[in-house]
Amino acid sequence: MMRCFVLSFTLFFLLILHTPSSTSSSLLPLCNHHDNSNLLYFKNSFPIDNSLYRDGRCSSYSNKIASWKNGTDCCHWDGVTCDTSSGHVIGLDLSCSMLEGPFDPNSTLFHLTHLQQLNLAFNDFHNSPIHPQIGDLVNLSHLNLSSSSFSGDIPSTISHLSKLLSLDLSDDYELRLDESTWSKIIANTTNLKELVLDLIDMSSIKETSLSLLMNFSSSLLSLSLRNTGLHGKFPSGILALPNLQELRLSKNEELKGELPKSNNWSTPLRILDLTGTAFSGQIPDSIGHLKSLNQLFLWYCKFDGMIPLSLWNLTQLTELHLSRNTLHGEIPSLLSNLKHLTILDLSYNSFGGQLPSSLLDLTQLSVLDISSNLFIGPIPSKNATLSKLHTLDLHNNSINGTIPDWCYSLTSLTLLDLSMNQLTGPISKFYIGLQNLINLDLSNNKIHGKIPNWFRDNLLHTWKDLVFLDLSFNKLQGDLPIPPYGIEVFSVTNNNFTGHISSTFCNASSLDVLILSHNHLSGTIPQCLLGASPFLSILDLQVNNFHGSIPTNFSQGSELQTIKLNHNQLEGVLPKSLASCTQLEVLDVAENNIEDVFPNWLQTLPALQVLSLRANKFHGTITTSFNAKHPFPKLRIFDVSNNKFGGPLPTSLFENFQGMKELSDSTHHRPALSYMNSSFSKYTDSVVVIIKGQSMELVRILTIFTTIDLSNNMFNGEIPHVIGELTSLIGLNLSHNQISGIIPQTLGNLTSLEWLDLSWNQLEGEIPVSLTNLNFLAVLNLSENHLEGMIPTGKQFNTFENDSYIGNPMLCGFPLSKSCKNDEEQPPSSILHQKEKPLFGWKSVAAGYGCGMVFGMILGRLFIKTARPLWLARLLCGYTY
Ligand SMILES: *[C@@H]1O[C@H](CO)[C@@H](O)[C@H](O)[C@H]1NC(C)=O
Ligand SMILES: *[C@@H]1O[C@H](CO)[C@@H](O)[C@H](O)[C@H]1NC(C)=O
Ligand SMILES: *[C@@H]1O[C@H](CO)[C@@H](O)[C@H](O)[C@H]1NC(C)=O
Ligand SMILES: *[C@@H]1O[C@H](CO)[C@@H](O)[C@H](O)[C@H]1NC(C)=O
Ligand SMILES: *[C@@H]1O[C@H](CO)[C@@H](O)[C@H](O)[C@H]1NC(C)=O
Ligand SMILES: *[C@@H]1O[C@H](CO)[C@@H](O)[C@H](O)[C@H]1NC(C)=O
Ligand SMILES: *[C@@H]1O[C@H](CO)[C@@H](O)[C@H](O)[C@H]1NC(C)=O
Ligand SMILES: *[C@@H]1O[C@H](CO)[C@@H](O)[C@H](O)[C@H]1NC(C)=O
Ligand SMILES: *[C@@H]1O[C@H](CO)[C@@H](O)[C@H](O)[C@H]1NC(C)=O
Ligand SMILES: *[C@@H]1O[C@H](CO)[C@@H](O)[C@H](O)[C@H]1NC(C)=O
Repeated sequence: MMRCFVLSFTLFFLLILHTPSSTSSSLLPLCNHHDNSNLLYFKNSFPIDNSLYRDGRCSSYSNKIASWKNGTDCCHWDGVTCDTSSGHVIGLDLSCSMLEGPFDPNSTLFHLTHLQQLNLAFNDFHNSPIHPQIGDLVNLSHLNLSSSSFSGDIPSTISHLSKLLSLDLSDDYELRLDESTWSKIIANTTNLKELVLDLIDMSSIKETSLSLLMNFSSSLLSLSLRNTGLHGKFPSGILALPNLQELRLSKNEELKGELPKSNNWSTPLRILDLTGTAFSGQIPDSIGHLKSLNQLFLWYCKFDGMIPLSLWNLTQLTELHLSRNTLHGEIPSLLSNLKHLTILDLSYNSFGGQLPSSLLDLTQLSVLDISSNLFIGPIPSKNATLSKLHTLDLHNNSINGTIPDWCYSLTSLTLLDLSMNQLTGPISKFYIGLQNLINLDLSNNKIHGKIPNWFRDNLLHTWKDLVFLDLSFNKLQGDLPIPPYGIEVFSVTNNNFTGHISSTFCNASSLDVLILSHNHLSGTIPQCLLGASPFLSILDLQVNNFHGSIPTNFSQGSELQTIKLNHNQLEGVLPKSLASCTQLEVLDVAENNIEDVFPNWLQTLPALQVLSLRANKFHGTITTSFNAKHPFPKLRIFDVSNNKFGGPLPTSLFENFQGMKELSDSTHHRPALSYMNSSFSKYTDSVVVIIKGQSMELVRILTIFTTIDLSNNMFNGEIPHVIGELTSLIGLNLSHNQISGIIPQTLGNLTSLEWLDLSWNQLEGEIPVSLTNLNFLAVLNLSENHLEGMIPTGKQFNTFENDSYIGNPMLCGFPLSKSCKNDEEQPPSSILHQKEKPLFGWKSVAAGYGCGMVFGMILGRLFIKTARPLWLARLLCGYTY
């Protein structure tokens, strides 16, 4: 009796010990033995390798099949669910299981025909097709193959899965779904509640088959077809399906549609995402029926009109994204109804009026972006407790008044962009603990006064994450703020800062962009600046009063693309180490006191496009050195004017400027207009060029802008014929030198030329008739030479006036009053009568680009400054001056 008790006690104890891990495997094997071995064969078709690639898609990865062992009960394996009575495997969740390798078409997985739920998401099946055998698993209600690197056509047998409630094939971006499979799925899986096909290629599906979606009728709860290439008109009836809770159609640029105007909406709708579609029309009043709506994403669509008042009744909204439409109207104070709002993005529309102060009642806001609208008036200044706000972007409006203190006291703020408004006043003296700032942009306002000490202290000690600070285009004065360690972009251009660059600047070792231009800074440029910032790509110190020499420690591996030191009082020589800056595109040292010979060692820089040495004390001859095959291969703007260069014109350079030859066609079609762009998109490379004695700042440099300016030096000898090969030249200025000989015929090959100045030289002979080929020529100055004979006529030459030729006593013919001896021709009685012919070139420019652009950029200012025939501009562009 006692033994019996002990035995049964032991048994009981054992039983407890084994629960729950292997009770049934040792005592009551549950798993169907066919399913058991099918699973083991499936396991064996994948390598066991814990070192497999894992990415951030899954919160955790685990190699579930590693626990599958022969001889144990499969119903207790990781990821396996059995039917408790039959022992059949009915659920298999191998998501995030690091399965990797091709999927066998004869996989024993397809024998598990009792399966109801199969999830293989987030594995890597090496672009295997989804095999047609998937259609054998007819008991499936849930199939999830998301993000598993399946590819090819989705097999039509998938439509055999008529019991499906949920189908997710998303993010297998090499999968295709064709028209007939689509129709079959819709016809047979009539109980589907959830369909997720994001990123699958569905572009072959026609508009007519899109409307089949209506067949899902009452079952559908969630439909997600993002970025699938769908096009045509989306059936708006979908938005009336009675149970629909989520509809996501974003990033289908050619998918059109409208929101239903009738009250016939899917009232349970919680999420509506139409981002980046071609949905258009107005947001109807009826949207007010969506009482459950949490998230409304309508950005990058084509909606217009005003926001209906009813929208402000959707009190459950947490996210409202209306950015980048053409919506207008004012934002009513009703806005404060949306108490749960965390994201309000109205940016890039035409909303106007004043900002309602009820905006500040939205205490849950984390993102407030109303940038690029037409808002006016002050930033509301009642006490705000937006303690969760991390992004406040009001840039590009017409907001005025001062920056209220609350903007500086938002504890969670990481981005504050108030740029491009009319804000005035000094930066507040008062602040509370703005600590997490990453991006601070107050540029393009009218903020004046000194930078307060709390701001300087925060810069250096508190804002440890700050990477972007832009205070440019204000009226700030006093000492420069010091850029903190860790900052990448620091711009204070166009203020009234004084003082010098202290050596503490050199602690900012992550600087990528440093722009101190257009201030009243003085002192020297500290040598440590370059050594300290290996990532520096833009160094812009132009238009200040810096003196001393240029730092010499430019180093190998430098990332500098733009160096602008022009318009200072720098002296000494150009440091040879500049040749290490192999990414350099713009080097501008104009208007300093640099005393050096021509830096032909810069010729190896492969990317250099703009070189300006204007107005310094450079001297000697300009030669290339022998070791470079193509010196200055990309150079497009070459300005050495106003120096003391002498000797012959640099023929060897003209022969080699590849960047000025690229465009050679006589059809007057130019490449698409584009601007030089820099690593920092907000920065535009500008350069000053002198045209007809007027300096003109090209605030953005067109990549077709190609000029050579050698004026005001002491060059002598003849103009080399090879200059005619620089066929993309737009401007050529050789004036004020001692150049002799004739004007070469080949200049007539420079068919892009818009201004040509050869004045104040000793040129002789006749003006070549070939110059009449220059259909774009707007400015011609040949004055003060020894030219003789008849001035050519026709085309642009009918538009030049006396001042193009004065000081050449032996020239005759139109427009000079002196007629040529055998001149039988009548000078054109009226230019207007000839407008058709000579204007061929101009017209095609205007027609090709639209007037605003080209005339605005290159020619508009030229016209105004040179008072060239304005009728021409009016004729072409309807300009009125
Ligand atoms: C499992 O083990 C049994 C007995 O050792 C063996 O016969 C069977 O082939 C094994 N199954 C698999 C799938 O390896
Ligand atoms: C799949 O099975 C069939 C028939 O049993 C066989 O012919 C085929 O080679 C197998 N395919 C693979 C990839 O094993
Ligand atoms: C589907 O599942 C049921 C219940 O488990 C089963 O009776 C039936 O045989 C299964 N269908 C197929 C084709 O295996
Ligand atoms: C629809 O589903 C049933 C049941 O699985 C199947 O027999 C039939 O072939 C399917 N039809 C299509 C067109 O796939
Ligand atoms: C598919 O599985 C993944 C991974 O478990 C999951 O994140 C996703 O929500 C599933 N899809 C559906 C529609 O349930
Ligand atoms: C907002 O809701 C209130 C209460 O349900 C209702 O009286 C009012 O008419 C609604 N306003 C709009 C513009 O739909
Ligand atoms: C804002 O709050 C501060 C301190 O909490 C208080 O001194 C000030 O009077 C308040 N201003 C307004 C307009 O309520
Ligand atoms: C702000 O602008 C509005 C008009 O846009 C003007 O009426 C108002 O006086 C301005 N306020 C300030 C402080 O400049
Ligand atoms: C710039 O600051 C100086 C004093 O630092 C002042 O005299 C001058 O008026 C200021 N210029 C402008 C345009 O504010
Ligand atoms: C350049 O001009 C000269 C003289 O006008 C002409 O003979 C030559 O063919 C032209 N070359 C090209 C490439 O157009």
